[in-house]
Amino acid sequence: DIGCHLAGLHLSSCILNASGPRTNTEQQLLEIARSSAGAVCSKSATLEERSGNDQPRYTEIQLGDRTSSINSEGLPNKGFAAYTEASLLRRLRESAEPAGKPYILSISGLSLQENLRMLDLLLESGSVEHLSAVEVNVACPNVPGKPLVGYDFPQFEAVLKEISAHPVFTANPTLALGFKLPPYLDAPLFDAVAGMLNPLAKSKGGVLGYVVCCNTLGSALAVDVETETTVLHPKGGFGGLGGPVVRYLAMGNVSHFRSRLDESIHVVGCGGVCTGEDAFAHILCGATAVQVATQHRVEGPTCFYRIAEELKDLMRRKGYKRLEDFRGKLKVR
Ligand code: DHB
Repeated sequence: DIGCHLAGLHLSSCILNASGPRTNTEQQLLEIARSSAGAVCSKSATLEERSGNDQPRYTEIQLGDRTSSINSEGLPNKGFAAYTEASLLRRLRESAEPAGKPYILSISGLSLQENLRMLDLLLESGSVEHLSAVEVNVACPNVPGKPLVGYDFPQFEAVLKEISAHPVFTANPTLALGFKLPPYLDAPLFDAVAGMLNPLAKSKGGVLGYVVCCNTLGSALAVDVETETTVLHPKGGFGGLGGPVVRYLAMGNVSHFRSRLDESIHVVGCGGVCTGEDAFAHILCGATAVQVATQHRVEGPTCFYRIAEELKDLMRRKGYKRLEDFRGKLKVR
């Protein structure tokens, strides 16, 4: 059994898609609903539709048989209404295999006000009862002129406080709230962020259900030696690094947060998961569930089945029956 309970939601598989690749259109979200993914997570929505940054804005990095990526997409998305409209949510429910698969709405407003406005609209809409979670992305590195909220602690603290105080969560106690965090690189920063998150825990009367560790690592630069140019065009060629090259950093973030956060705040691992072994390692570091982005983009939604089967094989070989048998049990040599 590789099912898990994430912030009050039941996932029949702990492997789900990350917001980002193949999450923009209704067709893509329905494919995830029909796949073995444990939940469906939307592309990060802004209030209005966005076409995103100019092309080229995505490139792949091949190391052996593993594919990493650098992107500067710039939040291309169909706008908040498209990801919350009743007909999409109904089709997702009808397509979900198994039935009851959670649907997570990712939002990434370009300001705190924009995020709060989307939550206001959600509160007023009938869709909210069919939504499982809201995942607030505070870590997009790619919008020109918008520094990353998760690295600006005074701004980040205000965002955490105001979003977690929004009535949509108190009015809908089963609606989970998550934050998608950027990668952090130093122990005092983990202490500081955990210090902002812990007061929002359910055990303290708050509504914070989970964090995702982590989003892409910003300021990566791909260089084409032949043409002596940047590979990507937007923002001077800089973009967010994802995939297997950030897996070790992501696991470090999972472990650092798991050891610092209140037990009622779950940690979702995200970074470089290509195989069942990668998922196992994230869970060993303390992840409740695991998101897949670059590999989902490269392989398509059948990756959720393959990774889940590989994880089950590995657990059988080790004699583990459920994820709790090894979650967070990484031993230090
Ligand atoms: C976008 C890209 C990312 O790597 C990310 O973490 C969030 C958003 C984007 O540009 O759309």
